[in-house]
Amino acid sequence: MGLTIHPATAPIKRPVIPPSAGSAPDMPTLLTPPLALYVHFPWCVRKCPYCDFNSYSLSGELAQEPYVARLARDLEAQAPQVAGREVRSVFFGGGTPSLFAPSAIGRVLEVARAQLPLAAEAEVTLEANPGAIERGAFREYRAAGVTRVSLGAQSFDERALGALGRIHSPLDTVRAATELHAAGLGNFNLDLMYGLPGQDVAAAVHDIEAALALSPAHLSHYQLTLEPGTPFAVRPPALPDDDECATMLEECQARLSASGFAQYEVSAYARAGAQCHHNLNYWTFGDYLGVGAGAHGKLTFAADSRIVRTTQLREPRRYLAAPDAALARRTISPEELPFEFMLNALRLTAGFGTRSFIARTGLAWEAIAGPVQAAQAAGLLLRTAEGYRPSVRGLRFLNDLLLPFLPETSEKSDVSALSMATPEVAARA
Ligand SMILES: C[S@@+](CC[C@H](N)C(=O)[O-])C[C@H]1O[C@@H](n2cnc3c(N)ncnc32)[C@H](O)[C@@H]1O
Ligand code: SF4
Repeated sequence: MGLTIHPATAPIKRPVIPPSAGSAPDMPTLLTPPLALYVHFPWCVRKCPYCDFNSYSLSGELAQEPYVARLARDLEAQAPQVAGREVRSVFFGGGTPSLFAPSAIGRVLEVARAQLPLAAEAEVTLEANPGAIERGAFREYRAAGVTRVSLGAQSFDERALGALGRIHSPLDTVRAATELHAAGLGNFNLDLMYGLPGQDVAAAVHDIEAALALSPAHLSHYQLTLEPGTPFAVRPPALPDDDECATMLEECQARLSASGFAQYEVSAYARAGAQCHHNLNYWTFGDYLGVGAGAHGKLTFAADSRIVRTTQLREPRRYLAAPDAALARRTISPEELPFEFMLNALRLTAGFGTRSFIARTGLAWEAIAGPVQAAQAAGLLLRTAEGYRPSVRGLRFLNDLLLPFLPETSEKSDVSALSMATPEVAARA
């Protein structure tokens, strides 16, 4: 189908990694990138049957106080790794962080501020489920320090929401958006999915129009995927075919573009100036501290020429009970770095700069010169003034574009082999 670089016709070129990349004096220098903070909240009112994020149906009372206390210990234990570095953005993700009271979110922010220098203009995003928001709560979240909200609208079709097992109605989303504007939080995102059970092109476009009518600043538009291990993967609902999904995407994109929403990432569209700073930091291979159950982090230690991934205990009960030092750490090898960088950077319509690749991985350009050339020759990558960006086809068939950057040891068929590398997949790990 979309496979444009096929091993049978065009051998996959592997990155050539200099043996001591990043350490020899004449090698490129690894620079310390900007830093963000991700805080994970693992509970939802009810687990959706398509979702493989690290989230759990809430049974019994929410462990609000113990969890906030545990997050505080996590932050205190991890802060020394990034001593002196400013945090540019904070993202409260889930799960459903909006199950936590504004005062609880405020306390986590206070602890973060006490442990780390938070930039004065830091973007602070809270993910919210329209079915798990108390009336008037957005004003309080804003007073607690939240500057941006990401609302899981998914669809405005009652039947589609039912098929997705959602706890909210289209009216809940409309109310939530109205309250966001009234609370001075007009900088909000709506998550929408397309390719839904029983959906046709007109219905997908209608969802976009219903979303635009609520005047969001940002829109995330994901094609529903059947994730292994979920109830939808075990008993798949009837979904629109690939051609119909491709038409949905085209028509929705045209509608978004006509309304002033520019695509800047595979699934993200924003009004001018309303791009998500936090996610841009992931996609430009910035650093982030990850706290909370199952949270991942990525930290650069430039003095040691090392980039480290951190992983917290996934299961909430184990996380709550664990000592402060429960964090797992793994240094990303030079062989993995090109793919990890590209897995993020090639999601952006603007692509990446060659200098940025060198500064953020510490590798020489030669490490990816071959695969870049091959992708360019295949029409998947285009030259820009500063570096390279994916072509329209490259963005559409991203897996094909990423294949040549896979390290030698990985399975060709499994582009998600290093799936920790993107934040949204990381939340699923
Ligand atoms: C972690 S959820 C956060 C929002 C909040 N928990 C909610 O669902 O209202 C992030 C977003 O990922 C998207 N998502 C989750 N599972 C998906 C799947 N299998 N296919 C496509 N998008 C998915 C949904 O749009 C969802 O809003
Ligand atoms: S999609 Fe959102 S609300 Fe549904 S289970 Fe996943 S994290 Fe929870």
